[in-house]
Amino acid sequence: MADIICIIGNKGGTGKTTLSHMLCQGMGLLGQRSVCVLTDTYREPLSPEGRRYLVADARTRDALCKVTEKIRSLDAWMGVIDGGGNRTEMDRKLYGLADLVLLPFRDSHEDIRTLIRDLELFPRAYAIPTQWPVIPWQRDAADRSMEELLAPYSDRILMPVNAFNATKILLKRDIGNDIPPQLAEACSNVARQVLDLLQIPVQVAEQMPRVARPVGPANASQAQQVRPLQAAMA
Ligand SMILES: Nc1ncnc2c1ncn2[C@@H]1O[C@H](COP(=O)(O)OP(=O)(O)OP(=O)(O)O)[C@@H](O)[C@H]1O
Ligand SMILES: [Mg+2]
Repeated sequence: MADIICIIGNKGGTGKTTLSHMLCQGMGLLGQRSVCVLTDTYREPLSPEGRRYLVADARTRDALCKVTEKIRSLDAWMGVIDGGGNRTEMDRKLYGLADLVLLPFRDSHEDIRTLIRDLELFPRAYAIPTQWPVIPWQRDAADRSMEELLAPYSDRILMPVNAFNATKILLKRDIGNDIPPQLAEACSNVARQVLDLLQIPVQVAEQMPRVARPVGPANASQAQQVRPLQAAMA
């Protein structure tokens, strides 16, 4: 049965969508098949072309049920559900169906206040610092304030995702063949830490075919799985 990861949190703009796509791209690079699921009614679906994962549109309640059911029925797949800001009821629902819940937050007191509320509300969830400063003195200050403000939750904080402009490429409607190696590495790093948390062994697959392409499935049984999934997501 597939695992489902939900990326949620009440604060808008924390990086939920970027992280969802980074995770899926990284999983694809590590040989893990995944589907990035859009639930935010204010956003448009992105083209799967050129990505190492499928994308699914689940912006209605019915579509979300159908897509999660479909993903659950597939062996060795991963569903990554991208939540939307300011939707506590939806967050509760996604929390209820997830195997792993991630709460991205930035280096901001407002993000951290909201994160503490979400960590209390969702006791199984992990926090993940995103858009984390890379300039050394800024990084030190961000790490220090995280340590102070989030001390009671230190065992629920994952390694940061650095601020990195190239991550914007993943939110383009069509990414083409545009992924620079540094972005691929950032995606693999975040995926590796999440697969570790889920205790899923990483099969290194340097040149895995992209799942959205007809050549995607590596064997006949995967081929049978991709087709119905693509149809269900259409
Ligand atoms: N690691 C990163 N480095 C640099 N910029 C980033 C990073 N992650 C996200 N961003 C930028 O931050 C902005 C918000 O990101 P994103 O849309 O992923 O957040 P969100 O939580 O999904 O927002 P919303 O609540 O509106 O759904 C975007 O401009 C995105 O490009
Ligand atoms: Mg978003």
